Amino acid sequence: MTEQIAEHYQRVAATYDELWAYDPDYVRQFSRAMIDSLRLIPSDAIADVGCGTGLYTRALCTELEPQRPVLCVDPTPAMLDQLPASPRMRPVLASAEDLASGHVGLPQAGPLDAVILKESIHHVPDRGRVLAGLASMLSPHGRLLVVMLPPSIHHPLFQAAHDRFEELQPRPDDVVDLLSDAGLRASVSYRTFHVTVDRARYVHMLESRYMSVLDEFSESELATGIDQFRRAYRDTPVIRFDDHFAFVTGWVRPD
Ligand SMILES: C[S@@+](CC[C@H](N)C(=O)[O-])C[C@H]1O[C@@H](n2cnc3c(N)ncnc32)[C@H](O)[C@@H]1O
Repeated sequence: MTEQIAEHYQRVAATYDELWAYDPDYVRQFSRAMIDSLRLIPSDAIADVGCGTGLYTRALCTELEPQRPVLCVDPTPAMLDQLPASPRMRPVLASAEDLASGHVGLPQAGPLDAVILKESIHHVPDRGRVLAGLASMLSPHGRLLVVMLPPSIHHPLFQAAHDRFEELQPRPDDVVDLLSDAGLRASVSYRTFHVTVDRARYVHMLESRYMSVLDEFSESELATGIDQFRRAYRDTPVIRFDDHFAFVTGWVRPD
């Protein structure tokens, strides 16, 4: 993890849930979509890699009622500190690289039935090696889900932020190829979540640099961007947009 990314999550950890949970229904719908796409069942051994504060893991546990604690893996101590104490979630301070290379072992015996990486793959530079390592940890009926934004998004960011995001964000099709290279049966589908957010709240989110791409801008560049946003949405007190996500799945091939 680069110093910039480490500092970003260290800084936003305490307010992450407030910044990112557009509304409880959004989080609930999202967790249902993840359960659905991996066809998770309560007896699955699950790891959520790059779980952050566990905002979505918590909702997933409420919906699924897993019989074994979900492994909540994240390299940022401040993010993991936000994870509520629960018998359903076990924190593991590690990066995807640590886990995939075996540098940090699983705290429980046996392979994993499901690995989820929700909005963390863009922080992993050597994606091929890491996804292959995680794939090798799967059981014979194992599956892996990478949830990621495509490079072009509908968030009401200012133009320079959109441009920078497009430059930095990995392509879902490339992740499909990497999962295939790792021996999994891989495919991508897209899911849309409708977002409603007050303009004033969104300004606060921009000021708080709620997306890590916003850390690419200096204070004055960000202020200019927020001015552009205020002008563009001056007649829109409530902003609505569609959040399109790529759900890239990889399934262990039957022998
Ligand atoms: C955008 S947040 C997503 C958190 C959570 N999955 C969610 O959707 O709310 C990205 C998370 O990835 C973590 N992260 C950064 N680098 C990582 C790496 N190399 N391996 C695993 N997680 C990483 C960060 O600490 C952060 O918690």
